[in-house]
Amino acid sequence: MSARVELYDGAYANYGSEVYRDIRLDTYGEDFGQTSWVTTEESREIPRLLDLKSSSSVLEVGCGSGGYALHLAENVGCRLVGLDVNEPGVRNANQLARARGLADRARFEQCDASKDLPFHDNTFDAVFSNDVLCHLAGRPKVICEMFRVLKRGGNMLFSDALVIGGMLSHEEIATRSSIGYYVYSPPGENEQLMERAGFREIRVVDTTESAARISKQWQQAREKRKKELISVEGARNFEGLQQFLSCVHCLTAERRLLRYLYVANKRA
Ligand SMILES: C[S@@+](CC[C@H](N)C(=O)[O-])C[C@H]1O[C@@H](n2cnc3c(N)ncnc32)[C@H](O)[C@@H]1O
Repeated sequence: MSARVELYDGAYANYGSEVYRDIRLDTYGEDFGQTSWVTTEESREIPRLLDLKSSSSVLEVGCGSGGYALHLAENVGCRLVGLDVNEPGVRNANQLARARGLADRARFEQCDASKDLPFHDNTFDAVFSNDVLCHLAGRPKVICEMFRVLKRGGNMLFSDALVIGGMLSHEEIATRSSIGYYVYSPPGENEQLMERAGFREIRVVDTTESAARISKQWQQAREKRKKELISVEGARNFEGLQQFLSCVHCLTAERRLLRYLYVANKRA
């Protein structure tokens, strides 16, 4: 059985260090502070898919370091709230918002997004979540909560890299799950949950290749900096994360795990 491996605390607490920034640049090409399978092309597409405007108020569920939310606040000019359960992530996000002069437009709160979202009904013009729902227990309720806080006519988007595409051994599931709590879902389940929550105009894009590519690039970028990373993370965690990334690459390259991007609308 794979031992527990730490990813998010290290990535967010070391956000500003040169080695972690260089790894993000090598992995994604552009640094939005990502710890996910979101390619730069997808990052650029999201504002269009959500129809974001400078007047939009936006919720990001699982904002991690806050880098992408702040990119949107800066470039689209929208107002944004980011939620994440990870304390170093939320702290980093609020620090970055202040340092970039964006604190009046973007704020970040520590919150377990598997619980009721701390907002009134019909609050946001758009709600999105990049590679986070797989970490949350009770997905039917999570999707209903995203629907509830979205205004009528608003758009919702999320990605899920844990849709089952083929046979998986218990060792592969253990390695793929070594960084935390995960829920695997059968194809079609997310669409059904969205429909049941009330979402319409559901569109689904197969982005499995993105996860295969990003995991490979991330693994290689870390391998190149093995010595520096071991001094920060320790040898056991370094190797554990490398195995995790290799496992993601293998399972997505062979399409035994699939990643989908879902976009839907709350009808006006
Ligand atoms: C794969 S990362 C994605 C982060 C960011 N969206 C990105 O694209 O880089 C998953 C994120 O989900 C957060 N997370 C895990 N469980 C959570 C929960 N119960 N509530 C809120 N956030 C959670 C983690 O802390 C982490 O920041």
